[in-house]
Amino acid sequence: MKELLARFLGVRRELVLPERSAPSAHPENFVSPLNWGLADPKRFTELLQELLTLMPPGVYSGDNLITWGRNNSALGDGPFCEAWKANLQNDADHTILWRRYVLACAGYHCVHLNGDFVECGVYRGTGIKTVMDYLGGRAFPKRFFGYDTFDYNPVPGHAFPGQEAGLYEEVISRFDGYPQVRLIKGLIPESFTQGLPPAISYLHIDLNSAEAEIAVLEMLFDRVVPGGIVILDDYEWSGVYRVQKVAEDAWLDKRGYRVFPLPTGQGLVLKR
Ligand SMILES: C[S@@+](CC[C@H](N)C(=O)[O-])C[C@H]1O[C@@H](n2cnc3c(N)ncnc32)[C@H](O)[C@@H]1O
Repeated sequence: MKELLARFLGVRRELVLPERSAPSAHPENFVSPLNWGLADPKRFTELLQELLTLMPPGVYSGDNLITWGRNNSALGDGPFCEAWKANLQNDADHTILWRRYVLACAGYHCVHLNGDFVECGVYRGTGIKTVMDYLGGRAFPKRFFGYDTFDYNPVPGHAFPGQEAGLYEEVISRFDGYPQVRLIKGLIPESFTQGLPPAISYLHIDLNSAEAEIAVLEMLFDRVVPGGIVILDDYEWSGVYRVQKVAEDAWLDKRGYRVFPLPTGQGLVLKR
């Protein structure tokens, strides 16, 4: 009966977990030319080229992160690399490899829990699709709800390429054959009235707006199941994004939570 109901709802229940690839002898380097907020990108690139000659293997350079002597686990995970590469749409998707792997690993954890997956701030759906393709693709066993205005960006000065009439339909068609995906168009938090899963195991919040992200926490945090994960995409970014961390710390402090700040710029909260 459960199985029939699941089929009717378009959710297949088998769990297809990606198998770990055999570890290579040495980590691969990852170097992306894209970083943000640089006053003099040309000079930065010249200095980076020199720095790269001095750094031991295990380099990750991109997305405003430069480090070395790291395992670059994302590049050693074959099924993840396949999902990531298959879904790349622009240079930004490439440079945020490490952020995507954090989502994929969070997904790997959360797929074992009760509750659906939610992303607030979908844009073209690359974050959702990378995680789903890593965890079984069309056989992904959960519903995945995505909320966005799609055709415009309500955050002043933050419109991304292609955010115009027609983007919503484009993203919908990207998920042809993925009946688990529910893309809900509208302004958060009002759009939540169009449908919300009662239990959430994975919650990715990526809105570039303190006000909207706090509204999401207000509405959805209590629905996250114990052991579930909340990822705040901008939490550890400073500059114009710092207001998000300040607001989120204040909100989470009141509930006895402390965010794990990640060097990728994300913040991770483990729900009790
Ligand atoms: C950085 S993009 C999301 C990227 C996506 N998570 C990914 O992994 O590729 C941020 C998105 O949040 C959306 N957004 C911002 N504020 C919103 C709000 N109040 N309601 C709905 N969508 C919003 C924007 O339209 C934009 O598409």
